[in-house]
Amino acid sequence: MSEVIFDCEVNFVSEVANAMKRVFDSMNLCYAQRKEKIMINLPLNIDYKNKVVVITGAGGLICGEMARAFAQSGASVAALDLNEESVKKLADELKSEGFICEGYKCNVLDAESLKDVHERVIKDFGKCDILINGAGGNNPRATTDNEYQHEAKEGTKTFFDLQPDGVDFVFKLNFQGTLLPTQIFAKDMVENKKGCILNISSMNAYTPLTKIPAYSAAKAGISNFTQWLATHFAGTNIRCNAIAPGFLVSAQNYSLLFDENGNPTKRSAKILNGTPMDRYVNAGELLGATLFLCDDKSASAITGVILPIDCGFSAYSGV
Ligand SMILES: NC(=O)c1ccc[n+]([C@@H]2O[C@H](COP(=O)([O-])OP(=O)(O)OC[C@H]3O[C@@H](n4cnc5c(N)ncnc54)[C@H](O)[C@@H]3O)[C@@H](O)[C@H]2O)c1
Repeated sequence: MSEVIFDCEVNFVSEVANAMKRVFDSMNLCYAQRKEKIMINLPLNIDYKNKVVVITGAGGLICGEMARAFAQSGASVAALDLNEESVKKLADELKSEGFICEGYKCNVLDAESLKDVHERVIKDFGKCDILINGAGGNNPRATTDNEYQHEAKEGTKTFFDLQPDGVDFVFKLNFQGTLLPTQIFAKDMVENKKGCILNISSMNAYTPLTKIPAYSAAKAGISNFTQWLATHFAGTNIRCNAIAPGFLVSAQNYSLLFDENGNPTKRSAKILNGTPMDRYVNAGELLGATLFLCDDKSASAITGVILPIDCGFSAYSGV
């Protein structure tokens, strides 16, 4: 009886051993096959060597960081801004660190200025692979003093005091300031049958923020235009996406978030209450998504996307 049990055990053990051998053999086969024939081409590649990236608004907070990120990833960067001093300083800094960057004075609302810079970029770098439409922003002339009309006090700037030229300025800067550079720089992309455009939308494109009706509507226009461009250029192998940054503390919105003594305003508290991660976004936190979306390998099938980078703000209903 005990021999029978022993025999069964031996058979069982040898069957298990054989099964394990078959598994290991097949694993080895797979491994060998991978090594020799089907090595995976890893998707995330942030080597931008030989890529030319044109960035508008590169003299500012967000796009200055982007210029640096692309330069450090090997790209040749054309940094464009109305503020010549800021982009020349950025380019000098990057060049002194061994990176490739040139600064150009450019007004994104002036087709002649854009054509002139386009010519110079082609002369300096030969092409434009990636266009980042970063120039944009709000203006006090298009901002109400009060969040709600029923709270408006005598002598404050209400909705009825907003001047058409202030509203026009904000619309133009954000919308035309994206459309015009795209007209100038994407022509080459169409000819080259490849390219990438990245626009900058905002949280207020999803639901408007109080006080800034023109900026909110203009950024909603940017999200919409991003989808339009993605569709329009799809057959020419040009991808177009946008990032929608959440709340950053910057010169642009500092006075809305902090009072003259540097204490958080009520608006600041409201923003953080509406942000599940309970903090502001840092400009550096936009870079991963930027490098990812602009990389042909990583994001080859991604076009028409508006990616929120917002510590959860756009996902939260407030309850
Ligand atoms: N800071 C934020 O919280 C935030 C949030 C969401 C979206 N955004 C958007 O991100 C982009 C960059 O914002 P930022 O915070 O870095 O602002 P910023 O003010 O630091 O930079 C904007 C840059 O655009 C330049 N510019 C303005 N008008 C121009 C023109 N006509 N031609 C060329 N350049 C011009 C300015 O000189 C400035 O250097 C903007 O489109 C902005 O609307 C900012």
